[in-house]
Amino acid sequence: MFVKHETIEKNAVLLAVLTTLTIAIGGIVELVPLFTIETTVEKVEGVRPYSPLELAGRDIYVREGCYTCHSQQIRALKDEVERYGHYSLAAESMYDRPFQWGSKRNGPDLARVGGKYSNDWHYAHLANPQSMVPESLMPRYAFLANREVDPARVARHLRANKTVGTPYTEEQVANVAADLAAQADVNAEPDALAKRYPKAVQVQGDGRRVTEMDALVAYLQVLGTMVDFTNPANEKLQQ
Ligand code: HEC
Repeated sequence: MFVKHETIEKNAVLLAVLTTLTIAIGGIVELVPLFTIETTVEKVEGVRPYSPLELAGRDIYVREGCYTCHSQQIRALKDEVERYGHYSLAAESMYDRPFQWGSKRNGPDLARVGGKYSNDWHYAHLANPQSMVPESLMPRYAFLANREVDPARVARHLRANKTVGTPYTEEQVANVAADLAAQADVNAEPDALAKRYPKAVQVQGDGRRVTEMDALVAYLQVLGTMVDFTNPANEKLQQ
């Protein structure tokens, strides 16, 4: 046995071939079962594609590198669940391209920040975090209120997501501009928006222009709110 082992160890090519073979077997055992199931993400009721304003906000979140300080993944550990709420489900990031799980927490996890604060709080906090949390080390993002969201660009992004598999309907694609305007204005009629995007939170834009700040707040307000964990149908997810 040891003599044979010595032969392998002294022959670099043989060692490389056998090592590759061993790793390949392990890989195949892990991968092949996944080919036989249609999806590895279990569908969960309530999870829907982002509304146009939320999608625009998500782009800004990525552009500004919020993920360098904030994760969006609550682990199934007692202290995490007590602090942030139900642990994250794979389905909750199924329309995130790419997902924003992150790996750094200079600030708190944001996976369930939706509904935790009022819109007003978010506007004030993003503009000047220290005004809400004096010891905060988060940078100021007041400039976002001076930058407008371009509806044509959001429409293109929505269509691109549809192309790669996000199930946006033709109606949703056709109404991007209307939905953007409706969600960015608390005084706008919410019915059509709510039908296309249940639980979309209207933010307090001035109704004349849609700013990047409006988009980011709309995005933050939907995070973690799509799945209703009080619904008995979701009980099996609760463990
Ligand atoms: C340099 C690190 C850093 C960056 C970058 C950063 N944040 Fe923060 N964030 C923090 C810290 C620290 C806190 C906790 C103190 C506070 O509330 O301001 C925080 C808090 C928050 C909160 C409140 C969370 C809660 O549960 O209380 C939100 C929402 C938030 N950040 C959003 C954002 C967004 C959106 C961006 C990108 C535009 C961003 N942050 C960028 C560090 C950061």
